[in-house]
Amino acid sequence: ASNEEFNGNLKQKLEELFDASLKLTVPDVPGVEPKIKTAVGKKGDYQCDNVMSLWPRIKGKSTHIEDGLALGQAVVEKLPSSEMVESCSVAKPGFIDIALSTKWIAKSIENMLISGIDIWAPTLSVKRAVVDFSSPNIAKVMHVGHLRSTIIGDTIARMLEYSNVEVLRRNHVGDWGTQFGMLIEYLFEKFPDSDSAGDISIDDLQSGDPVYCKTWAKICETSRNECAKVYQRLKVELEEKGESFYKPYIANMIEELKGLVEEDKGARVIFTKGYKTPLMLVKSDGGFTYATTDLAALWYRLNEEKAEWIIYVTDDGQAKHFETFFKVARIAGWLPENDKTYPRVDHVKFGVVCGEDGKKFKTREANTVPLTDLLDEAKTRSKAALIKRAKEARDTKEWTPEELDKTAEAVGYGAAKYADLKNNRLTAYTFSYEKMLEDKGDTAVYLLYAHARISSIIRESGKDIDELKKTGKLALDHADERALGLHLLQFAETVKEACTELLPNVLCKYLYKLSEHFNKFYLNCRVNGSAEETSRLLLCEATAIVMRKCFHLLGITPVYKM
Ligand code: ARG
Repeated sequence: ASNEEFNGNLKQKLEELFDASLKLTVPDVPGVEPKIKTAVGKKGDYQCDNVMSLWPRIKGKSTHIEDGLALGQAVVEKLPSSEMVESCSVAKPGFIDIALSTKWIAKSIENMLISGIDIWAPTLSVKRAVVDFSSPNIAKVMHVGHLRSTIIGDTIARMLEYSNVEVLRRNHVGDWGTQFGMLIEYLFEKFPDSDSAGDISIDDLQSGDPVYCKTWAKICETSRNECAKVYQRLKVELEEKGESFYKPYIANMIEELKGLVEEDKGARVIFTKGYKTPLMLVKSDGGFTYATTDLAALWYRLNEEKAEWIIYVTDDGQAKHFETFFKVARIAGWLPENDKTYPRVDHVKFGVVCGEDGKKFKTREANTVPLTDLLDEAKTRSKAALIKRAKEARDTKEWTPEELDKTAEAVGYGAAKYADLKNNRLTAYTFSYEKMLEDKGDTAVYLLYAHARISSIIRESGKDIDELKKTGKLALDHADERALGLHLLQFAETVKEACTELLPNVLCKYLYKLSEHFNKFYLNCRVNGSAEETSRLLLCEATAIVMRKCFHLLGITPVYKM
């Protein structure tokens, strides 16, 4: 059965086609999943790799298929007819190379230009997710690690939102516990007149004594205002539900887990298989721990908020903590045993941020919130670079002060975000203003510049691009046009992968490659004033649209002039 419904996801569409033909070719072999990947060679655009593992399974059982090559041919013959696939060829020992129809690629892009890029949004099976990110501690400094969590978490939330998932963006601030009690004690000691001095114990805090509560609220407020400045600048939205929020749910949660609890030197703990140290649920002094709160929060998110996917973004130093309490939740039956089925939890961990000396990144003063300084610096440097560039270009590129400021901010903050996101998050990353603000190579500056250039090509054509979108036709006759077109179409499967694998760098890599494809096309194919002008302007516009969507998902503000 050929069905030409297309949601923009090439890979998925090919999987459907090959799934159908594999079922017809080897009906007796159960559990065959189509293996489709982008082709590395020149022969095709994609390849299907099923035959190599399938052949040994049917060898000898089939009378008419004599080798892998023949099996591959049989799979190709049974492929449902489709406008999308131009041709397939089989190579030893059974690789199937798939060439897509250029006409069809062009048509799909025309379609996106008319309907908008949302038609390429991934479809996921979850309806509601919690992304727990940023989450600084009130009694401690908000450091670059929290900035990294903020940036990565925001991107993950944006990708899920684009995929039509309702996202609860949660700031799980550390606003409670021993650390906090110690801070209040210190404050009362240092400023005895403020409200009330005297002995304070952690118990007073955990039991909610009014005097301490007032002081507590004050400290939280101050800290909250500082953080809000950073979030505002980064245009990151978050809803604070700090550790203290889950306090009323602790008792019930402990009650639910009571079958798993053991006594250990006066404390109440839960032992999990494979972990030497148990999870500490209630300390010997009756206090609760970070893990206690996280279990209560998980309970709340699953039962009250009805989230199906809960994603925690912190540095990898907390890996053990998450593994252990996830494990407890599985033993308790809150989560399925299989960690890929829903409701599902994921710890999105990332490496430390290093300074250029290779050591853990530190800003000058350790006891202020230095993140705003960091952003200021990025903006200042990018402003200087923009002024310098405009001078060197000696063209008419004049900035109004307001334009310059806005652009410097978009470029500076964008650069800081991109430098972080483009790395595989599991590796430590080296923070360097110079590197992230370079105008060549894999930086936001370069990418934003590419977007500005495309915008100016379209502007200079003097054509009404919105009108062209409705009526114009796209042809991809030049090899560089086709390569760019194919890459544009691969946007959908890329976002899906970045989103389901929780790897923003996959999207960054795509975006960088997109600008490379564009440059190659622009170098070899004249746009304005050429016979193919309309088609090529449409290709420029499609590139700009996809770039902007990528920027949006990465939390970067696009610029149209640079
Ligand atoms: N406040 C913690 C920290 O700064 C991060 C909290 C992460 N979220 C969570 N649910 N444990 O290390």
